[in-house]
Amino acid sequence: VIAGATAATLLLAACGGGDEGGESAGGGEGKTMRLALNQTEEHPSYIALDNLGTYLEENTGGWDIDVFPNETLGAQAEALQLVSDGSVDMAIVSGTQLENLNEDFVVFNLPRVFDDVEHQMSVIHDPEITGDLYASLEESNNITVLGGFTQGARSVYSSAPIETPADLAGQKIRVQESELHIAMAEALGGAGTPMAYGELYTGLQSGVVDAAENNEVSYFTQRHYEVAPYWSYTNHLVGLDYMIINTDLLESMSEEDRAAFDAGWTAAHEEHTQLWAEATQEAIDGATAGGATFSEVDDAAFAEPLEALAAEFITTESQQALFDAARAAAR
Ligand code: GCU
Repeated sequence: VIAGATAATLLLAACGGGDEGGESAGGGEGKTMRLALNQTEEHPSYIALDNLGTYLEENTGGWDIDVFPNETLGAQAEALQLVSDGSVDMAIVSGTQLENLNEDFVVFNLPRVFDDVEHQMSVIHDPEITGDLYASLEESNNITVLGGFTQGARSVYSSAPIETPADLAGQKIRVQESELHIAMAEALGGAGTPMAYGELYTGLQSGVVDAAENNEVSYFTQRHYEVAPYWSYTNHLVGLDYMIINTDLLESMSEEDRAAFDAGWTAAHEEHTQLWAEATQEAIDGATAGGATFSEVDDAAFAEPLEALAAEFITTESQQALFDAARAAAR
C-alpha cells in the first residue's frame, strides 16, 4: 500500500494537475479527468474508457479523460479513497470495494444473482432499481456511481484441474477484499485469501495462493495462465465493475456538458458489452495457445453451497428489495 501510495503521489505531482481547462458551451470549465484503472491497455475497459475520453473531447467544452491503466494510480482500494478525496477524478472499481462502504452493494456481488451479462446490464442500468443505491455514497464519501461494466462470468483456476469442491480442499484461493467473497471461496471448497489484483501473478507464482477466480479476459491479459494453467468452469458469479466519479466534480459540469457526459457514458458501457464477448473468445484462444486447459466441472456439486450465500448475506430489507428486483428482471 505504501509503495502504491508513493507511486500515485509522484505521478500526481508529475501531472501537476495537468488540467487544461476549456470554456464549455454552457460556460462551465472543463478539465482532463484522471481515471484509475487496474487493467492493461488491451482490456475492453481501457478501450471503452479511452473512447469515452475522445467523445468528451469532441462533444463538451474542455472535458476529457486520461485513463491510467495497470494500477498506476493505486490498486482499487486506494483508488476509491483517492476519488473520494478528489485527488483522482474517476475510477473503475469492483463491486466488492463498494460493499465495504454500503452493505447494500453486497447484493450485486452475490453468486448467481445475475444469470448472464445481458441480465446484469439491464438491472444495473435501470435507475428505478439502482437510483438510491448509486446516490448513497454522495454525502458520506463524495462519490457518485454512474453504472458499470460487466466482469463476465467468473470461474476458478489453479495449478491442477478442479471438478468438485472437494478438489479445492486445502487450497488457498485469492479473492477480492470482501467478506462475501471470502465466504464464497469456502463455498467453492477452499480457503479465501484477500489480495489486490496486481499482486496476484506473483502470489500464484510464489505459492502464497494456490488458486484464483476471475474471467477469461483477466486470466489472459494478466498472464495468470502462465502460473495457474488449469481453468475450471465453475461460472460461480457474473462479476460487476462500477464507474465512480467524485461528486463535487460531477456537479461542477454545466447542464450541456453533463448531458453529453451521460450520453458518452451510455455509449461507453454499451461498447464495453459488445467488446466483451469478442475479448473473451480471444482470451480463451490466447491462453490455450499459451498452454492453458479449459475444462467443465460438476455443476451440481457447486450449486447448493453457492446458492446458500444469498440467505447468509442478505440481512436487511433494502438488500432483499434489491435482490428481488434483480431476480424479477431475469428472463
Ligand atoms: C476483474 C475486474 C476487476 C477486479 C478483478 C479482481 O478483472 O474487472 O475490477 O479488480 O477482477 O479480481 O480483483
